[in-house]
Order: sequence, then C-alpha cells, then structure tokens
Amino acid sequence: MKNKYYDLVDQTFDFPQDEFRTEEGELYFHDIPLMEIIKQYGTPLKITYLPKISSQIQRAKRMFNVAIAKTDYQGTYNYCYCTKSSHFSFVLEEALKNDINLETSSAFDINLIQELYEQGLVDKDKFVLCNGYKRIPYLENIVNLYNDGWHNVIPIFDNNNEYYTLDKMLENPEVPMKVGIRIAAEEEPKFDFYTSRLGMRYRDIVSFYEDQVKSNRKFQLKMLHFFINTGIRDTAYYWNELSKCVNVYCDLKRVCPDLDSLNIGGGFPCKTSLASTYDYEYMAEEVLAQIKNICTNREVPEPIIFTEFGSFTVGESGATLYSILDEKQQNDRERWYMIDSSFITTLPDTWGINQRFIMLPINHWDCEYQRVFLGGLTCDSEDYYNADSHANAIFLPKLQKDEPLYIGFFHTGAYQESLGGYGGIQHCLIPAPKHIIIDKDEEGEYVTKLFAKEQSHKSMLKILGY
Ligand SMILES: Cc1ncc(COP(=O)(O)O)c(C=O)c1O
Repeated sequence: MKNKYYDLVDQTFDFPQDEFRTEEGELYFHDIPLMEIIKQYGTPLKITYLPKISSQIQRAKRMFNVAIAKTDYQGTYNYCYCTKSSHFSFVLEEALKNDINLETSSAFDINLIQELYEQGLVDKDKFVLCNGYKRIPYLENIVNLYNDGWHNVIPIFDNNNEYYTLDKMLENPEVPMKVGIRIAAEEEPKFDFYTSRLGMRYRDIVSFYEDQVKSNRKFQLKMLHFFINTGIRDTAYYWNELSKCVNVYCDLKRVCPDLDSLNIGGGFPCKTSLASTYDYEYMAEEVLAQIKNICTNREVPEPIIFTEFGSFTVGESGATLYSILDEKQQNDRERWYMIDSSFITTLPDTWGINQRFIMLPINHWDCEYQRVFLGGLTCDSEDYYNADSHANAIFLPKLQKDEPLYIGFFHTGAYQESLGGYGGIQHCLIPAPKHIIIDKDEEGEYVTKLFAKEQSHKSMLKILGY
C-alpha cells in the first residue's frame, strides 16, 4: 500500500523539483541536506540561501530581455531591488553583485544606501527610485543624496504636497532632478475600497504636470509608476489596470516629451506551492506586448521598463525550520503538532494575510502520514497553520520514537522579519530564532555562517526597560 509521506507528495505533485529532493527519507533544499543543518544549528532556525537571490535577479533580467527580443519591444529593461522585502546587509550584498538598481520606501532606506556606498557596494550612478509617502526627513535625505552627486535618484510623487516641499528644499540643482509620479491604481472589485490610497488619481496626473512641474526648471518628469497590489497576474483585472496606466503614460507623453520610463512595480510572485503553474516567461512577454500595442496605437514610443520585484527576488532564498515538540489530540478529528516557536512572530504573513508557504517535513518521508494542525507556542488562538495553498488541509508524517519530526516552511525570505519586528518584542516573549546564511564556495560545496544567535532574554528585557 502506498501510504508513506513520500507517496503522498509523489502522487500529488511533480516531484522532485528544482530545489527539493529527498534521499533516504530526508529533504534536501538546493542540494543541502537539511538534517545536517539541523544537527549543527538546532531549531527553530531561519535560513537564507544566498545563491538563489542572484539566480532570481538573473532570471528576471533574462525573461524581460527575451521578452523584449520576442516582441520587438523598442525600450530597454531596468531591474530594481525593492529593499523593503528584505533589508539585511547580506541580502543587499548578494543582490548588488548583479548590476541592479534600488527602490526605497522611507527615510532610513536612504541611510541604508549611503551605508552601502561607504562600503563600496554601490555607485552614485545607480537608479534609486524613491517610493512611499514622504515626510520631511525622507525628502531631506533624498535631497542630500542628490546634492551628493546621485543624479539618478528619482523621487516618485505620491501627492502634490511632496512636490511643493521638495521644490522648496531643492536649491539650484546642477542638473534638473528626475522625478516620477505614482498612479493610484483601482483595487480589485472584492477589496474594501475602490482606489488605492497610494499615488495620485488618474485624472489629476496630466493637469498636475501641466500646472506645476512643466514650467519648473528644477525638475524633469521621467517616470510614471503604478503598482497593482495583487501582483502581476493573468486576470482581466490586471490587464485592464495595465492598459489604463499605459494610456495615462501616453496622455502624459504627449505633453511631456522628457517622460520615457514606465515603472510597473513589483508583483512577480514567489513560488508558494509545489503545484505552482505561474508562467513567468509568458507574463513578461504579455506585459511588454500589451504596452507595445497600446503605445503603437497611440503613436507614442515604447517606454523604458522598470520593475521593483521584492518577493520574487528574495522570497525563495528563505526557509524557516521547526521541530515538532509534541502531539495533542484535542477531539476525535483534530490532532495538533506543536512547533517550537510561533507562526505569529516568525511568519507573520501566515497570520496577517493568511499567506501559505511550501511546508514539508525534513525527515521521516518514509513513514506513514496523517492530517494535522500545526500550533504555535503563543497563547493566541490564531497562532496556527492548517492549510496549503492547493488544499484545505495539511499532512505530515506520524511522529516516531527514535527521532523528532522536523518541518520546514520554504520560500519565506521576503517581508517576514520586517513585519515580525526582528530582534524586538515578540508575542508572549517567544525569541526570534537563530538565523544562518548558506552560500556555495568555489567548488560548489555549501558553506554555512551564523548570522544571529537566538534572541536572548536579556535583549528583550532591555527593550522593555528592565
Ligand atoms: C511600490 C512597490 N514596489 C514594489 C513592491 C514589491 O512588491 P513584491 O514584493 O510583490 O514584488 C511593493 C510592495 O508592497 C510596492 O509597494
């Protein structure tokens, strides 16, 4: 009878996959034997596998450049890394090996870029796209960067006030400052409101440019930006929004010859299921084909394309490993496996937006499986995980006497630390897990490095004023 955990996976998915395979009942992630890692470092454990960051950036560049060739698109492609998806120094160091540009979200991001410059990791000719709602410190930092010779820093206006404040701050620029405008996208019909709070209304953009920016010698409007928060997806909603934005681009281009760039934001998804069928190549090609088509009809040159992929870039580099501490049968149907940490604190998206990740056991693949609920250590009744993205249930091997069961959540490299308040106060004072970095050496062998120990009670008590 086929009742082993491996059989379940084998029957449900195309398995093994690029990054996952098993050997003697144990899981390998990018050819790394995770049981060895657990024996060395224990759990709970966060992992960052650096080579995946570079390979994703190269993949994005390749896909868009192939799409440019296939659609005979007349503009070029610029990849930007959106720092908010993971600000860690080791992530930026890896990403910057790939000749990239950067996108920022707040004042401190600019300090982060200055720090990277001090370390010789970035040049002043990089594009720095400054998004977000900008308070004075953010605008001041942008102006400082610009005055320091970063002439490709591009503040993207979220609203008119940012423009007025920046205009007052910027004195006699050597060359006009390149700027952008963000379009407030319409939300999906099922959302709680119609229009995003981020950016300017479609119908105000051309008049804002004509009335304010056009005659101002300090600025040169180069970029139009939009971000569809549900991501780049093959849905009528996405194509409709894209088409509206490209039409605004064409309207604006008519009155603003300097305009030459369209920033389509982030939103390339990270793989969150072994059953994922997202066709990245097709989507890149179709996005460019649609833009080209509209521009051709409107007799406007095709814009330079910028993207700001966060999840796609870093998501798949991350994994979070836990031990199962115990099994609790709470009624005839509900069997809980208790993990040695908390979902709320270590993977806040599972709790906040019901995000599903790829969840797999690390060992015992050759044992029988059962349906379980995973429970976290905090007292919060919401600290649980009970469904995959492809099924409304999760299954794991039965617990064995000889060795604890270890499980991994994969592709958890984006946003979780910044949302969880890395190194800060955690719910029920559950400590932030140990974090290691994995890289490949010249021989292609994996090497590990401890980035951070498990958070100590001292560090937390100190924050609390003890
Ligand atoms: C303006 C902007 N650009 C890029 C991103 C990155 O999105 P993703 O991680 O889905 O690629 C976001 C995410 O919130 C965003 O708001």
